[in-house]
Amino acid sequence: MKRISDHPILGPLPEAREVWITVDGERLQAREGEPILAALLAHGIHVQNISRKKKAPRGLFCGIGRCTGCVMTVDGVPNVRTCVTPVRDGMVIETQEGLGKWGDRK
Ligand code: FES
Repeated sequence: MKRISDHPILGPLPEAREVWITVDGERLQAREGEPILAALLAHGIHVQNISRKKKAPRGLFCGIGRCTGCVMTVDGVPNVRTCVTPVRDGMVIETQEGLGKWGDRK
């Protein structure tokens, strides 16, 4: 897992409860409250959605909730900005195709 455990300026990573999320059917461990995107990057997942027109992989761009590069379907809700949405235990996260579609809420 790729995480900065002791940042030279920010210091050590604060304590957080370890929780489980499901990403495209795979259960992954995450830190409660961290942005979903941070958890995905820690696991080496860099593609969050596939663009509608060019069918190209998209992911992190701004990292502050402005660009929609990181949108995914979360608990059946499409177009969730994963860079600013905190992890909760049991979340179901899916790579989004195009504009996404509403699914079953868990
Ligand atoms: S990376 Fe730009 S909104 Fe998330």
